[in-house]
Amino acid sequence: MLKANIAVLVSGGGTNLQALIDAQKSGIITSGEIKLVVANNANAYALERAKKAGIGTSVVLKSKLGSQEAFENELISVLDEAKTDLIVLAGFMSILSERFTSYYKDKIINVHPSLIPSFCGKGFYGLKVHEAALEYGVKVSGATVHFVNEIPDGGKIIMQRAVEIKDGDTPEILQKRIMEEAEWKILPLSCEKICSQIVKEK
Ligand code: GAR
Repeated sequence: MLKANIAVLVSGGGTNLQALIDAQKSGIITSGEIKLVVANNANAYALERAKKAGIGTSVVLKSKLGSQEAFENELISVLDEAKTDLIVLAGFMSILSERFTSYYKDKIINVHPSLIPSFCGKGFYGLKVHEAALEYGVKVSGATVHFVNEIPDGGKIIMQRAVEIKDGDTPEILQKRIMEEAEWKILPLSCEKICSQIVKEK
């Protein structure tokens, strides 16, 4: 069966990457195959997860390349080399320029740990998102998978799942619940949904 080539961009622990690898193994993702994992941080544990699963890896460092433009040119080169059909940002902590997002229009998706349009945009990443949600006092948060365009967290929404906030939650506790109940579920489901559309058009 024809499959979409998936590249996953990561920066840290890679639990969302792990959810994608597991979903591929368990048959939740059948229309795509993870061909490449790219990290913008040489110490990202996500790279170990990829290697364990037998997936090719690449490290692209902005600090070495000197500018955002050179960084994105290198990303484009490794992604095109792998004949990437879908780019999945899974905990990728770098904002991409309009030049990059329009080059891959409708081919980049991202998982964000809140219900967009709350607690999103520039400066809202990782634990900061959960700190902001708890500080505001919302009773429900969750996760969103969306297309990536030039506006940070501003592209079309693909899937969302709500998660209850409980008394005594800390940012770390809330982060874990949102990952377990929402991110690790809707990221693989969204990935399959978009890959199946890509395969139909291939
Ligand atoms: C996840 O919670 C992801 O939603 C978030 O960072 C974490 C990465 O964890 N992403 C953002 O905040 C992007 N704005 P992981 O490396 O274990 O998947």
